[in-house]
Amino acid sequence: MDKIVIGGGERLIGEVEVSGSKNASLPIFAASLLTEGENLFHNVPRLKDVLTIVRVLKNLGVKVREKEGAYRIDATEVSNDEAPYDLVKTMRASILALGPLVARMGKARVSLPGGCAIGARPINLHLVGLEAMGAKIELRNGYVEAKADRLKGATISFDTATVTGTENLMMAATLAKGKTVLQNAAMEPEVVDLAGVLKKMGAKIEGAGTGLIGIEGVESLHATEHTITPDRIEAGTLMVAAGLTRGNIKLLRCPFHHMEAVVHKLRETGTEIDPEGEGVRVVGSRRIRSVDVKTQPYPGFPTDMQAQFMALMSLSRGLSVISETIFENRFIHVSELQRMGADIRTEGNTAIIQGVESLSGAQVMATDLRASASLILAGLAADGITEVSRVYHLDRGYEGLDQKLKMLGANIKRVKEGN
Ligand code: EPZ
Repeated sequence: MDKIVIGGGERLIGEVEVSGSKNASLPIFAASLLTEGENLFHNVPRLKDVLTIVRVLKNLGVKVREKEGAYRIDATEVSNDEAPYDLVKTMRASILALGPLVARMGKARVSLPGGCAIGARPINLHLVGLEAMGAKIELRNGYVEAKADRLKGATISFDTATVTGTENLMMAATLAKGKTVLQNAAMEPEVVDLAGVLKKMGAKIEGAGTGLIGIEGVESLHATEHTITPDRIEAGTLMVAAGLTRGNIKLLRCPFHHMEAVVHKLRETGTEIDPEGEGVRVVGSRRIRSVDVKTQPYPGFPTDMQAQFMALMSLSRGLSVISETIFENRFIHVSELQRMGADIRTEGNTAIIQGVESLSGAQVMATDLRASASLILAGLAADGITEVSRVYHLDRGYEGLDQKLKMLGANIKRVKEGN
């Protein structure tokens, strides 16, 4: 297992390109199961999670070829309808194969994803929606077994806005008989990117990006070509890196218009963020102001930016309060930040952060994807050396973040664990 070693105190200066979105790539790859013919997807990030969804697709008999970040995916022949435990346990988003498989094949057997470090992560809303569309669902031996001769349109109202739940049912509805309405649907940009791809495949979808999505089922969908939208969470992570190091960076291919809540909060801390030509200029301030944050479904402040923002608040000039409303256990990074000298107290899903003058480098351990990013960010600003272990978490969701930070002047390197 690799670890990342950082010598803190370097200002980040220069230009860096934002990669394609992980959370858009995964549902869009799953959508290829709905089509006959060869899909071509560009700007796909080189991530562990993308490689996992590719393994899920290949296991279903789908042909997948990759060349320089572009993927050709041909699901004309789907010879299997099972997403096995050993794949789903490594990436819960494999559940995104469920809706497309039931819609295309009339049946699916997908391992229940189980929980993860940040929470129980149930999929009940995915299953209730498919049942409303006429699927027969059984849970057996740790698997979801779903059958439906042909799904039928239904009106589905989500108790909670669920991103992959919205995506799974939107995909299933494209081939159902009749009209489906998704109420209290997730509005994330990744849902909109997926809807854009489905429409290019021939689907009839209205309202993506709002809480009310209408899908008129069609007989079949054809392959298409698409360029994956940039990753707003990677972009936000890089902005925090500039804010923490009094840096001056320019982000290229930054999805600025998808980042209003994050940009608004970072500007409040004193970080300057302004469009500049084709990119976005980010300049960190000497004094980081304390700002409260509450995570919300889009367009609110994203839960996927909470850990990174907490690293910034650890060095702010005052007291800030961070409330995590989406997941029940997404403060695992707190104890590691405390080991670096951060003054943080948690009460349930609320963290109270008293900014300190400085953080000290330490050996810390990553526990989930965004926690690993948070610890690397803290290491950039800490005095001395920080070693972040278990960075396989990082590699699931960031394309070469350490290399990008190194290109911007960070004193950072990746070493094999145990050296
Ligand atoms: C997606 O996860 C993202 N993953 C997550 O990103 C992100 O944190 C999350 O949305 C929230 O924005 C992908 O898109 C692949 P949810 P998802 O269903 O869809 C509850 C990252 O770091 N819920 O929107 O699994 C659930 O418990 C990852 O990139 C149910 O109760 O999240 C949670 O409290 C982490 N029943 C809330 O809804 C369900 O059937 C939101 O979860 C489904 C969800």
